[in-house]
Amino acid sequence: MNYINEEYIEDYIRSILPESNLYLQKLENYAEEYNIPIVEREVAQLLRVLIKIHKPKRILEVGTAIGYSALVMAEATEGNCYITTIERRKDMVKIAEKNINNTIYKDNIKILYGEAENILPNLKEEYDFVFLDAAKGQYLRFFNWCMDLTKKGGLIVSDNVLFKGMVASDKLVVRRKKTIVKRLRAYLKYINHIEGYTSCIIPIGDGVALTYREE
Ligand SMILES: C[S@@+](CC[C@H](N)C(=O)[O-])C[C@H]1O[C@@H](n2cnc3c(N)ncnc32)[C@H](O)[C@@H]1O
Repeated sequence: MNYINEEYIEDYIRSILPESNLYLQKLENYAEEYNIPIVEREVAQLLRVLIKIHKPKRILEVGTAIGYSALVMAEATEGNCYITTIERRKDMVKIAEKNINNTIYKDNIKILYGEAENILPNLKEEYDFVFLDAAKGQYLRFFNWCMDLTKKGGLIVSDNVLFKGMVASDKLVVRRKKTIVKRLRAYLKYINHIEGYTSCIIPIGDGVALTYREE
């Protein structure tokens, strides 16, 4: 129970999703066995739909882990995109590289090893789709760098923005997460009011925010 949706709603939504491809299923099982956080299946499906509508050519991801969401996005574009994904843990980078190299998308995905805080300010390319899925407490900083990196008409998707419901209700906030919750609230307020952008929050998974950069 993550206090965002009733369990029966989550179970129902997951029960009607089509099965993932075999190599994605293997990654889902691996993530579960080794307790590695990857996007929930309904969030993966949202990414697929957004990508099929938006047809991005260049995608930036912050938070690779084992490469699951990068592969979901590559598959959704049928390989017609180039994905740059950032990960700070060397062990994750190695696993993700192995997983990605086993697929037909190995030439579509490049992993940058390091702290996003060091890499984002130095990126030179522009992207039409950005997926933030790392260090929730840093989203506002990440977003400010991504504003320069996102093309007009581009989309920034941020995962885990409701953080187990804590962002929406003080009653749920546990003491040691107070700072992250405070920062996420500031982030959501910011992206909902900043000129030139239109945002919405979707209460699926752990909460997903979509931010469109106006043309
Ligand atoms: C939720 S997982 C990413 C899951 C992945 N997007 C997926 O769904 O398959 C978050 C990852 O971000 C990485 N991370 C956290 N903070 C980071 C930072 N500041 N810079 C780069 N990577 C970071 C963590 O090591 C972790 O592997």
